[in-house]
Amino acid sequence: MQDVIRIREAEICRSELDRRAQAQIVDDLRTVVKQAPLFSPTTPRGRPMSVRMTSAGTLGWVSDRRGYRYENLHPAGEPWPDIPESVLAVWRRHGSETRAPDCCLINYYGDGARMGMHRDNDEKDFSWPVVSISLGDAALFRIGNLTRGGRTESTWLESGDVAILRGPARRLYHGIDRIRFGSSDLLPTGGRINITLRVVD
Ligand code: SIN
Ligand code: FE2
Repeated sequence: MQDVIRIREAEICRSELDRRAQAQIVDDLRTVVKQAPLFSPTTPRGRPMSVRMTSAGTLGWVSDRRGYRYENLHPAGEPWPDIPESVLAVWRRHGSETRAPDCCLINYYGDGARMGMHRDNDEKDFSWPVVSISLGDAALFRIGNLTRGGRTESTWLESGDVAILRGPARRLYHGIDRIRFGSSDLLPTGGRINITLRVVD
């Protein structure tokens, strides 16, 4: 049986995706990344982020000097590719059976990459959940509160885990402290992929 744990109000479905399902998604993401290459975003203050990212869907999430936002086009000027069916299947199980996500954000964590504490805050309607898929190396996921600071809890996310931020968890601060580079052999050159699926507007 599937093992679901709760950290604060976040749901974490351990080993939701078997190796075959994980490999299928990675394969499908190769096609996405060919069309919409990973890029290195900067924060609005101009600091380079350590993850590389791209998106699929009608909207992609970007960050640069002009701020955090969703855009219709990849920074190179092309539309974002469609969200792969293998990824949509995970959304239908945990997000919604009736509403498709607008954005599938793909973050790649190489050796030393991390993600500071933040809230997913650029969407219009927080009643839709954020569904997040972990692939490759393990990552230390930290969850805090509705405002910055305070007590936090953390857990290691492993390849195939699906985390859902919904309801009271939707607006909690969260981040990735570090990855355990080389802990998984799913990706031939190591590292971690995180996919987050969001309804934007
Ligand atoms: C994020 O919150 O944007 C990423 C979470 C993760 O990498 O698991
Ligand atoms: Fe996030």
